[in-house]
Amino acid sequence: MKKLRIAVDGPSGAGKSELAKALARELGCIYVDTGALYRAVGLNAARLGLSKDDGAGIAASLEGLRVSIKRQEGEQRIFIGDEDVSGLIRTPDISAWASVVSALPQVRAFLGGLQRDAAARGNVIMDGRDIGTVIMPDADVKIFLTARAEVRAERRRKQDMDKGRTDVPPLEEYLREMQERDSRDSRREHAPAVAAADAAVLDNSDIDFEHTVEKALGIIRERTAGK
Ligand code: DC
Repeated sequence: MKKLRIAVDGPSGAGKSELAKALARELGCIYVDTGALYRAVGLNAARLGLSKDDGAGIAASLEGLRVSIKRQEGEQRIFIGDEDVSGLIRTPDISAWASVVSALPQVRAFLGGLQRDAAARGNVIMDGRDIGTVIMPDADVKIFLTARAEVRAERRRKQDMDKGRTDVPPLEEYLREMQERDSRDSRREHAPAVAAADAAVLDNSDIDFEHTVEKALGIIRERTAGK
C-alpha cells in the first residue's frame, strides 16, 4: 500500500489528539498536531503585547518568525526559533489567542507550507480543523471527530481537574468558552472548521475512548481496503 495519509478534523475537546496519537501508534504513522503551530503563533503575538483585534499587527508579527516542529523520543515538540515552547502553549489564554490568529489568511498561509511538507512525506496522521478540506484534500482517510458541546466542555474540565488544578472554573464557563471558539473557528471566512464532503463523521458523545479508537480503525480499514 502507498504511504498512508489520514486527516482527523473536528472541534476542540472532541479528543482528536488522543485519538490521532493512538491511531499513529497502532498504524506506525507519524502524528502531527497542527493546532500547536497556531498556538505558537498566538503565543508569539501575546508576548509582543499585541491586541487580539490588531489583525495587521498579528500579520506583521510573522515577519522573521520561525516556527518549527521537531521530534524528540517520538513526541512532537514545537519551537519558536531555538526555544521549545511546547509547555507554554496549553493555557486557556493561548487557546483563545490561537483561535484568533488562526482566522487570519496570512497566518494560515504562513503555516500551510510546513503542514504540506509533513503531508507530502506520507505515513502521517494530522489533526486540525482544515486538514481534510485544505491541507490534505486527497488524504486516504478523513475523519471528522465531534461530540456535543456539553460533553466536550465536561471533558476539558475533567482534564484540568485531573492535572491537579485547584481553581477549576464551573462547567458553564468551559461551555461558554467552547461555544465561543466553536463559533469563531467554524464561521470564519478562511478555512472554516467544517467536515470535508468525503469525511466520515464520528460522534463520540456517547461512547468511550476505546470504542472511539475501534470505530476509527473500522473507518480506516473500510476506506483503505484494496488500496
Ligand atoms: O486543536 P487546538 O485546540 O490546539 O487548536 C488551536 C486553535 O487553532 C483552534 O482554535 C483552531 C485553530 N486551528 C486551525 O484553525 N486549524 C488547524 N489545522 C488547527 C487548529
